[in-house]
Amino acid sequence: MLATTLIIAQCLMASTVSQAEPLLYSVLPISNSLQREGISLNGEWKMLVDPYENGYYNYRWEPFDQQESPDRQSYFLDVKPADRSDRIEYDFDKAESINVPGDWNTQHEKLYFYEGSVWYRKAFECSPPEGMRAFLVFGSANYEAHAYLNGKKLGSHVGGFTPFQFEITDLLREGTQSLVVKVDNKRLREGVPTLNTDWWNYGGLTRDVRVVFVPQSFIHSFTLKLKPGSRDTVILEAWIDNPSTDKQLKLVIPEMGIDQDFQADEQGHIVVEAQARRIYMWSTTSPKLYDVALAYGDDHLTDQIGFRTITTEGQDILLNGRPVFLRGISIHEESPLTQARAHSREDAEALLSAAKELGCNMVRLAHYPHNEHMARVADEMGIMVWEEIPVYWTIQWDNPSTLENARNQLRELIHRDRNRASVIIWSMANETPVSEGRNAFLLKLVEDARAMDSTRLISAAMEYHRDPENPQKLIVEDPFADHTDIVSFNQYVGWYYGMPQDCANIEWHIPYDKPVFISEFGGGAKFGMHGDHLDRWTEEFQHELYQQTLPMLGKIEGLRGMSPWILFDFRSPRRPLPEVQDFYNRKGLLSEKGEKKLAWYVLKDYYTDTDRKWRNR
Ligand code: GCU
Repeated sequence: MLATTLIIAQCLMASTVSQAEPLLYSVLPISNSLQREGISLNGEWKMLVDPYENGYYNYRWEPFDQQESPDRQSYFLDVKPADRSDRIEYDFDKAESINVPGDWNTQHEKLYFYEGSVWYRKAFECSPPEGMRAFLVFGSANYEAHAYLNGKKLGSHVGGFTPFQFEITDLLREGTQSLVVKVDNKRLREGVPTLNTDWWNYGGLTRDVRVVFVPQSFIHSFTLKLKPGSRDTVILEAWIDNPSTDKQLKLVIPEMGIDQDFQADEQGHIVVEAQARRIYMWSTTSPKLYDVALAYGDDHLTDQIGFRTITTEGQDILLNGRPVFLRGISIHEESPLTQARAHSREDAEALLSAAKELGCNMVRLAHYPHNEHMARVADEMGIMVWEEIPVYWTIQWDNPSTLENARNQLRELIHRDRNRASVIIWSMANETPVSEGRNAFLLKLVEDARAMDSTRLISAAMEYHRDPENPQKLIVEDPFADHTDIVSFNQYVGWYYGMPQDCANIEWHIPYDKPVFISEFGGGAKFGMHGDHLDRWTEEFQHELYQQTLPMLGKIEGLRGMSPWILFDFRSPRRPLPEVQDFYNRKGLLSEKGEKKLAWYVLKDYYTDTDRKWRNR
């Protein structure tokens, strides 16, 4: 199969990613795994906590995986060789349980702050239908995962927020299967993100795990988008794994009157156009989704896809050619239902409904790819989405493996979500200090993003600096802004710089003829703490901060949106202040349980007024 995959990669390079290196579709997950035939491995697993990684390294700190002799296998692979069964020092059958999907920090008190390795084991029955292939698909694992099936190494994945898979067709055995996964959430200097982040380092198998069954030849993945400049033609690009000349790819979109067959080339690649009767655009006021069906031999795929354009013209952002103002809010992947790492459709509905209630037409999913339910629910609710990878703060810019890690996470994110109409922005970085190395690193990411998907806006949450002669003149000038479609930056005047009343004297200098988007502003308040509007941590202080900030930002020419920091309070190891933070960042407009603070009403009123002003533009 690898041969086919490599060929697909070559033709990909030819057709869609001429400059970028080939995308190896053997490592990018098959698309639509949640909708395909298969079995879920969600539910109760067993776990062994392994802080010294005894299950992975021998006493000489050599990885068992690299030991030739089979009897030097790891103890932790749930395979008990008869001659050593009395010396084995683990027992999954007697081990504690843990639910998947879900972070380990909030499931076991002793793991709340734990950073290290946990071994997971799932015993399951699996009999793919006759002649079908089987793929094991993980929605994500934070941060590094090594997987073994029935004692055989499947592979590994680095990056805590994107899907990955392994083909297991030839490794399934009669009877019960034993899947063992080592997950390690240790922060690494060379990691993406790196050592320092302002969010909780939730470890574990944090999203859905499925075994997907597909025919011998199947549709690995596809993209469907409007032909640029057209309102009645779509472009289908698809990749067939193990193509055969006697099969064709059928595309059916009943409401568009499309029912056409297409021939893949010998590498299984297809790039074709299909004419529609007419196409109703997806928008935030009318989130039209089309039922799409694809078939290739015995493989059948369905999806719901919306079609729209998102462009810029001078300082305007245009949705389907009409100027819009992005009434956004930032969101971390934490559920108000469980106060844990969000992962389910119900979590997505809770988070996005709260944004909708605030009057938002957009959300910034910070600071890493969220689970795929978020973009799918946003498609249905008509909410635009900014997605980003965790290139956050002081990444190791000059480390080639760090760059490859970031590029891979970006590829996996775009590959997963590029059929989601709600996603309008790919963001490359957050508050990264300007340097030669950083600029080159981010430029590589932009090249990859534009090569994989030229239909969305590129951004990054940048920073401002003060005019040395005039501390009230704040300047947004960043070499990377020459490569983004919008100028986004975070600002905390009134919280980290001065007090709320200082906002009135600030003048912004943003020398770009591009739309301006404020990707963060805000301040902390503990829900229920009241006092004078100058008393930090009170709801009144946060209320005053919003009251003062919004008019200041309103003076910025070219202001076309914002995503204040943040919708809900969220956990952070950097926020310990007893009785106020207790390891929560309190800049939420809602408490972690969804209780509205006074400032929530300020933004709600502002968005109601902004919506009215922009509706008839
Ligand atoms: C930064 C950063 C956020 C952080 C916020 C804060 O702008 O982007 O991740 O949580 O400030 O200090 O609360």
